[in-house]
Amino acid sequence: MEFHAFKSFGEMSAAAALAVAGTLREKPDCVLGLATGSSPVGTYDELVRMHHEEGLSFARCTTVNLDEYLGLAGTHPQSYRFFMEKHLFSRVDVRRDATFVPDGTAADPAAECAAYDARLARLGGTDLQLLGIGPDGHVGFNEPDDVFTPQTHVVDLAPSTIEANSRFFASETDVPRKAITMGMKGILLARKIVLVASGAAKRAKIDAAFSGPVTPRLPASILQLHRDVTVFWSET
Ligand code: GLP
Repeated sequence: MEFHAFKSFGEMSAAAALAVAGTLREKPDCVLGLATGSSPVGTYDELVRMHHEEGLSFARCTTVNLDEYLGLAGTHPQSYRFFMEKHLFSRVDVRRDATFVPDGTAADPAAECAAYDARLARLGGTDLQLLGIGPDGHVGFNEPDDVFTPQTHVVDLAPSTIEANSRFFASETDVPRKAITMGMKGILLARKIVLVASGAAKRAKIDAAFSGPVTPRLPASILQLHRDVTVFWSET
């Protein structure tokens, strides 16, 4: 694992965006694994700047997001499809039919999960997977558990995740209790993983994840098994 520490969120985001842009420039038809949460927002802003000022193009890439709340349509302002539209898709030249986010309103969520994995397999996994890390060490929405789940699956969100994510909703009761998340196999299929995080609490989680045992109780610890992980962390 490569670890890069920065003073500010802006510097950290610029460095992470350079890594994503590097993959896009090397392989314009790459598959980008994308993440939501507040941590990648600066990375997306920087990628948008590069699109406008440096001609960085997303026109030939495919994007595959990590997760989506179960029950939220893509038009819901707190859905992750909506987040991606707002922070990236509507601001760059990506083809909408090449952007994939799990469908939170699928009539058959299990079938949606299986189809998501089948698509990921057809794409050959992602060339680069952008990740954040949750307060409990989750990646995507893979919550602490007794086992790692390889496949895309429906997950019950941990109380700490519901509480942490309630800041985006009118109240905690509005936060969906379940989500669809890419599983650990899908995440580890990535050729390169870029994890972005800020603040002391996330630093402690990252340290524990990369220096302690690999355990499903700290989901991000499985990233120790991947050969190309870069962590970009900032103090603020
Ligand atoms: C959500 C997302 C995760 C993300 C996490 C951390 O739970 N499902 O993919 O990593 O939030 O978010 P933040 O970066 O806002 O702390």
